[in-house]
Amino acid sequence: MTKQLANVPPMGWNSWNTFYNHINDELIRSTADAMVEKGFLEAGYEYLIIDDCWSLRERDENGNLVPDPEKFPYGMKAVADYVHEKGLKFGMYSCCGVRTCGDYPGSFEHEFQDAALFASWGVDYLKYDNCHRPNSQTSEMLYRRMSMALRSTGRDILFAACQWGTENVQQWIRSTGAHTFRSTIDVQDSWNSIEMIARSRIDDPYPTGNGCFNDMDMLVVGMNGQGLNPETSILGGISGCTAEEYQTHFVLWAMLNSPLIIGCDIRNVSEEAKNLLTNKDIIALNQDTECRSCYKLTSYANPDIFVLVKPLSNNDYGIGFFNFSDTAFHVPLYFWDIGMTVSEGSTLELYDCLDHKWIGKKKEKYIPLVPSHGCKVFRGTVKVR
Ligand code: GAL
Repeated sequence: MTKQLANVPPMGWNSWNTFYNHINDELIRSTADAMVEKGFLEAGYEYLIIDDCWSLRERDENGNLVPDPEKFPYGMKAVADYVHEKGLKFGMYSCCGVRTCGDYPGSFEHEFQDAALFASWGVDYLKYDNCHRPNSQTSEMLYRRMSMALRSTGRDILFAACQWGTENVQQWIRSTGAHTFRSTIDVQDSWNSIEMIARSRIDDPYPTGNGCFNDMDMLVVGMNGQGLNPETSILGGISGCTAEEYQTHFVLWAMLNSPLIIGCDIRNVSEEAKNLLTNKDIIALNQDTECRSCYKLTSYANPDIFVLVKPLSNNDYGIGFFNFSDTAFHVPLYFWDIGMTVSEGSTLELYDCLDHKWIGKKKEKYIPLVPSHGCKVFRGTVKVR
């Protein structure tokens, strides 16, 4: 009997955004060390995930995937063992097509063999991509198949479908058995990319919740344009984001129940990025056990100014004030709009999740000044007189 996975959004680190194909045994071991030593594991980041480009270009004579011996000279079981010894869980990557997106062998027609191999190495999480899929095969069918293959190993392997939001994935993904599903194209280390992904899932929310979460892609917090991936790095013309923008990105992913998968080089992470990524009050909004979606309140019909409200399991509410415009703005919340009556004397007591302090009981409304591309985020407790 396997246990139910992804009761709350998974948290971890993934090699792709920063390291692209520059992955190896030493990188993974030193990242595992950093996840523990710098407090990321303690904050909840438990999965260490190797993305694409880890194997040889062809399978061996028995049809098995082979870790590239130049990158992983001790094999993948040794890497998994090291990661497990640190108290972390180990994630890997494959693809439902004949080749991965980076042109390594995909799992198509090898699903059960690959799942068994991953299980034998001690894999706890599989990211499963969508490139090079024969036209005759739907991704729905192929995600069902890999889900079955993983379950048949008897090992608890979290199945992260990387489907990019095509073919109405939100309508059928839960029934495949997947635990998370990518619903957008790849994130880049830029405000434009963050804004585009955030708007798509705020304006067109996909079902997300216990057992199957909508994945808005990895976090770019802390990358500062330093990634080796030409699509997410300064080499590709992406210069990173401001501290304010990274903060807004993290708060949005947390409130929208996305998995929180770090994409920066945490071995060299700045104090500022580390403090943001390990902010326990923001993480608590994401890891809340009821996993409820947010609703959106807009003002002045201005699509750049809005409030997100997320009911939490202890009768509190996560309340985020956002400003996507290019100038500072007073973003209003009128308490009637979250269901309160005011003439009965109810108040909303607000705890600031970024400054870590209570700011007192508010009546009728709260209208903080929010900087451009910034946010304010609170835990709110309704006090009924
Ligand atoms: C993309 C995927 C990325 C990364 C990449 C690897 O399809 O969205 O997150 O995994 O493939 O080639």
